[in-house]
Amino acid sequence: MKLTLKVWRQRNAKVKGQFETHNIDNVSPDMSFLEMIDVLNAQIIESGGDPVAFDHDCREGICGMCSMYINGRPHGPNTGTTTCQLHMRSFKDGDTITIEPWRSVAFPVIKDLAVDRSSFDRIMSAGGFVSVNTGNARDANSLPISKEDADSAFSAAACIGCGACVAACPNGSAMLFVSAKVSQLAKLPQGQPERKSRVKNMVKQMDKEGFGFCSNHAACEVECPKSISIDNIALMNRDYLSASLASEK
Ligand code: SF4
Ligand code: FES
Repeated sequence: MKLTLKVWRQRNAKVKGQFETHNIDNVSPDMSFLEMIDVLNAQIIESGGDPVAFDHDCREGICGMCSMYINGRPHGPNTGTTTCQLHMRSFKDGDTITIEPWRSVAFPVIKDLAVDRSSFDRIMSAGGFVSVNTGNARDANSLPISKEDADSAFSAAACIGCGACVAACPNGSAMLFVSAKVSQLAKLPQGQPERKSRVKNMVKQMDKEGFGFCSNHAACEVECPKSISIDNIALMNRDYLSASLASEK
């Protein structure tokens, strides 16, 4: 396949960026999108240029690092697919592909396609955990959990923290991410002792980081590579309200 790539280049968050056009050929339809960028970078290095900076780690759809817009869509054209699991067979020979970093004030550009998503880490540090004493794991059967709760906690826990929900949202809201992290613990007995303080602290940190509000566009759910449901946002809103009312008593 022969492709024309329009790639966003930006030295850091303080300077303006611009698109740079590259023509690339010998792209196999079986390559992943990231392998195609590897080929592009080899070509750029051979001609003495600066390779395109982009984030990646697992390349298996697990770590959430491979964040970028492809033709204006977070993680590209396929539903439920991360950039690293997107294959070039999803494009046609001769296509022009536009590649950009996430656009959000809470995700400043580090360089080119790589953005700083440490705002998500700070939200997790604010409450996305359970406090447990160390020691042996207790016997699994001593803590019965209904199949329904186990399944919905597991579905919420599938969030890989990629930030596509923020990138897709016209308000730059992080509520799908935060609600998934709240729900995965709110559904389980282990998450109950800190349930109220968790939701309050995580929402407070989310607001502090500059993310926008949710106005029910649901673009986040459509673009989420793990198909996280916006039902989690409803659960988080209910929990936040009841925790706030409880602390006013
Ligand atoms: S909710 Fe989906 S889009 Fe948002 S961070 Fe988690 S996996 Fe990514
Ligand atoms: S590189 Fe880990 S999810 Fe894509």
